[in-house]
Amino acid sequence: MKKLFYPCSGDDWKSIFDMFIDEIDDFIFADLYYSNPDGFVEILQSNDFIGNINMIIEGNPNAKLSTSTEPDSKIHNDIDPCYIRVSFEYKNNPKQILFRKGFAQYALNEIDDDSLDYFCHRGDSMGEGGSNVYFLSNRNSDHEPISRLFDKLVGKLKEDSYILSDGSNVAFKKMIDFYEKIQNLSVEKVAEILPFTVVIGKINLIAIKCLDYRYNHTLMWQVSKEKNQLEDYRKKEGYTRSTYRHAHW
Ligand SMILES: C[S@@+](CC[C@H](N)C(=O)[O-])C[C@H]1O[C@@H](n2cnc3c(N)ncnc32)[C@H](O)[C@@H]1O
Repeated sequence: MKKLFYPCSGDDWKSIFDMFIDEIDDFIFADLYYSNPDGFVEILQSNDFIGNINMIIEGNPNAKLSTSTEPDSKIHNDIDPCYIRVSFEYKNNPKQILFRKGFAQYALNEIDDDSLDYFCHRGDSMGEGGSNVYFLSNRNSDHEPISRLFDKLVGKLKEDSYILSDGSNVAFKKMIDFYEKIQNLSVEKVAEILPFTVVIGKINLIAIKCLDYRYNHTLMWQVSKEKNQLEDYRKKEGYTRSTYRHAHW
């Protein structure tokens, strides 16, 4: 059973779904504004290989975000989560999607440890319309469930897993620099630079390929939780130290 989680996915859930439907059995798309369950079913129905669609809704898809100011002047946002669970058959294989309405940081907390094959976050920003949520960052917050999201994400990822990112809402400097460097390059040119490795604590992230281009290239980063796996990867792929681009902090 392979699982993919895409927080703050908006309408882009469909592109990632189409790209991974053959490989993934269990999709979780999380967004504050998922409020049209029938719309999801209609989209799935338009795929000739999908049948036997079933939907179960837990919670209120029309729940609204409320904002209040705490006595200490902090702004507090709140929304009742809603779980739109869709199961279906794709080419005779059972699959499922959870459209999780609410704060995606909580959706991450709800995922079982060591269960995620893919994490995807892209097309986001800290500006207007963006979530300002940084999953590829270890920012501290005094509210524990939204603190150090990268550490939390790593706990959810399987030993062999992947992060898909276009560099949006990333706080690790070497990653930001790399995305800036490749932004105006063709896929072929980026392919020449890959693989590119970034080490965050004990975690190796190895960018191994480009998926597509929207605001920047969406790269597929192979995640290795133990550093010595990097050496195994180098040996397997035949890279020498001098040809291997490696960033560390
Ligand atoms: C800039 S859009 C990006 C959508 C999508 N990733 C794409 O590439 O098209 C940001 C999305 O994040 C959602 N969002 C904002 N804050 C969120 C939060 N805390 N949790 C879940 N979704 C959030 C918004 O509803 C919006 O759909």
